[in-house]
Amino acid sequence: MQTLTQRRILLGITGGIAAYKSADLVRRLKEWGADVQVVMTPAATQFVTPLTYQALSGRVVRLDLLDANAEAGMGHIELARWAELVLIAPASANFIARLAHGLANDLLSALCLASDRPLAIAPAMNQQMWLNPATQANCQTLRQRGVWQWGPGSGEQACGEVGEGRMLEPLQLRELIVDFFTQACPLAGLRVLISAGPTREAIDPVRFISNRSSGQMGFAIATAAAAAGAQVCMVSGPVPLATPAGVERIDVESALQMYEAVLQRAAHTDIFIATAAVADYRAATASPQKIKKTQETFTLALERNPDILATVAALENRPFTVGFAAETERVLEYADDKRRRKNLDMIAANQVGAPDRGFESSNNALHVLWEGGEQALPLADKITLGRQLVALIAQRYRARQY
Ligand code: C5P
Repeated sequence: MQTLTQRRILLGITGGIAAYKSADLVRRLKEWGADVQVVMTPAATQFVTPLTYQALSGRVVRLDLLDANAEAGMGHIELARWAELVLIAPASANFIARLAHGLANDLLSALCLASDRPLAIAPAMNQQMWLNPATQANCQTLRQRGVWQWGPGSGEQACGEVGEGRMLEPLQLRELIVDFFTQACPLAGLRVLISAGPTREAIDPVRFISNRSSGQMGFAIATAAAAAGAQVCMVSGPVPLATPAGVERIDVESALQMYEAVLQRAAHTDIFIATAAVADYRAATASPQKIKKTQETFTLALERNPDILATVAALENRPFTVGFAAETERVLEYADDKRRRKNLDMIAANQVGAPDRGFESSNNALHVLWEGGEQALPLADKITLGRQLVALIAQRYRARQY
């Protein structure tokens, strides 16, 4: 069984006798396909040598914040970003206190401070140290900040006492890690295709018709879908945004180019999310030369662009299809009508025209509709909304499977 295939786990080991159990944990994680990078505090090296973890993980163990050689490879900030999960096991009382107070005077604590990745601790210490109100308060602080706390278990301790404070067993920790990835990566193994940004419809070589879409919503959704474990391909109109990590990006300009790029891939995708603000019309004939201002009035003939979303939704082998509806009035009514007409699995409606949300803003509010259900996602930054929408899409996608 390879349930953790290619999962990138940074395993922090701090000074405690349970460090010997973490050697087995590394083995168990490798056994299920995980990529494990061990980082040790100086105190941890007093219990087990770095060579042990190096042999088991197949990666050089990182020890020192000020090691110029190691930093020249993957620096501590890159390490912090590399991980999909940071697990401190064993987490000593001292290390938990340092984490709670944001200290950064060794590699592991600096890494935790520099990381925005999910962090879990597996406390391991003497039962009195565990029960001490200082430790309890530190753990509570960490939990409130979203740190996962796994254990401790109770039983006989290395010091001879009996009580709470034993590190969970490697197999128990591995189960928790698998659960974590299942919860945190609801799109694992799925292919997601996203259209994003505006399109540009050429009038002549210097002029075009476009709209106010900034691409931020689509890019936020691509980021969230990749973080949820999906293989993400994004077909984007011209926007000056950086490509999210792990996302394949295909740049296009016009609606016709977007149509082709999307249709080429739509049959091989599990979920299609159309966030692009595709121009409804293009110039019937784009002039090959710059149009001169010789006429007093100028009429431009336009013709309809194909509806990418409706075309994908009409495919025989269609993916789970999600559309957007940007409306200035009667938002829900128009959106639900669009959902039915275009035969969509879900539609995310938003009000445009207000200054604090929608086009050209970093914030938005969505109201998501599907057959027999709806959910409001209140005003928030687009990154947060992207995550919430992806979680909802994953839920509905899975529900449809059964
Ligand atoms: O009909 P309307 O343009 O308002 O529908 C908006 C939804 O349809 C959005 O999800 C948008 O990305 C998609 N769309 C499309 N191709 C078009 C027009 C809209 O995919 N030509």
